[in-house]
Amino acid sequence: MHLVAPSVLSANFGNLQADIEMINNSNADWFHVDVMDGVFVPNISFGFPVLKVLQKLAKKPLDVHLMIVDPDRYVQAFKEAGANILTVHLEACTHLHRSIQNIKNHGMKAGVAINPHTNISLLEDTISEIDVVCMMSVNPGFGGQKFIENTYNKVEKLKNLIASKNAKTLIEIDGGVDLENYKKLIKAGASVLVAGNTVFSSPDPTAMIAKLKSV
Ligand code: DX5
Ligand code: ZN
Repeated sequence: MHLVAPSVLSANFGNLQADIEMINNSNADWFHVDVMDGVFVPNISFGFPVLKVLQKLAKKPLDVHLMIVDPDRYVQAFKEAGANILTVHLEACTHLHRSIQNIKNHGMKAGVAINPHTNISLLEDTISEIDVVCMMSVNPGFGGQKFIENTYNKVEKLKNLIASKNAKTLIEIDGGVDLENYKKLIKAGASVLVAGNTVFSSPDPTAMIAKLKSV
């Protein structure tokens, strides 16, 4: 069964508690939490004060997606802020293997995110160490962007790589997931679907989450 992770980036920050409780009471599996620094991506989202609210109110795992340069500096801080899965960008890590070990040594699941231009082959030597590959299906930085169709090919390649190494890595799709593409993504091998705009622009976000969970 695949997992659904609503992206808090699209929530209503004027009443974050209500949206957190909506996710708590829905069929969602994880909270997807996008942290952006305005350097690695051309946008700034939020940081520790918001994480603290999530840590207190969220009753499901926090899947923290770091779109920041030099993420190693903050691994300990995100552990303390309640991250269960901590994802760094391959493009932001000079020593990716070390970053992965660092996250695991802090007792979190290690995620590696890859941008749309990044080839799957670059994961060949680390895939067995990675708990979740977050495959960007838009260029990171903003919610509500259009899904990039080449993602299906990449999911297929990644699925084959994971199988060839006998790894247990989850394939997470992040960006532009909607009712048009989610079934095809699951069929291609996706096991975690992130959804921001699709959930929060829906008149009934709880029902939308249930739809994205159904196959
Ligand atoms: C984009 C973020 C995504 C974003 C997805 O940089 O990593 O998690 O919130 O939003 P949607 O589902 O609206 O594309
Ligand atoms: Zn994300």
